[in-house]
Amino acid sequence: QSLVRLYHERVVDHYNNPRNVGSFDKNDPTVGTGLVGAPACGDVMKLQIKIDEESGKIVDACFKTFGCGSAIASSSVATEWVKGKQKEEVLSIKNTEIAKHLSLPPVKLHCSMLAEDAIKAAVKDYEAKRAKMSGNAEAGT
Ligand code: FES
Ligand code: FES
Repeated sequence: QSLVRLYHERVVDHYNNPRNVGSFDKNDPTVGTGLVGAPACGDVMKLQIKIDEESGKIVDACFKTFGCGSAIASSSVATEWVKGKQKEEVLSIKNTEIAKHLSLPPVKLHCSMLAEDAIKAAVKDYEAKRAKMSGNAEAGT
């Protein structure tokens, strides 16, 4: 119906069949957790990545989103895109790419922004955890 008319079918697909919904243990040292909120609408997104310490590769990802269909679809796409990539590599994923992939209308851009922010926050969380563990000697930034 109207949902189908307003949104690209990829949004509907990712909304109806979201990929990688779930949670990892946030205390697992190989897990990075990004929890972000959109001030505009109050929606919240949690995106988690699991990293192979040796290679720095993201081996798994999952999300939970309390938000609109576009936010759910954006986080679903984000988890698909980060898997198999290096943690540095995913920092360059832009919300505009996600929005374009899903053909989000301009008013829904902030929903994809949540996904970009959540990816960055997850990597940051992982690095902070590692820095703490290695006694901040080689913490970097
Ligand atoms: Fe799922 Fe492209 S349709 S990431
Ligand atoms: Fe706010 Fe979509 S309306 S995240």
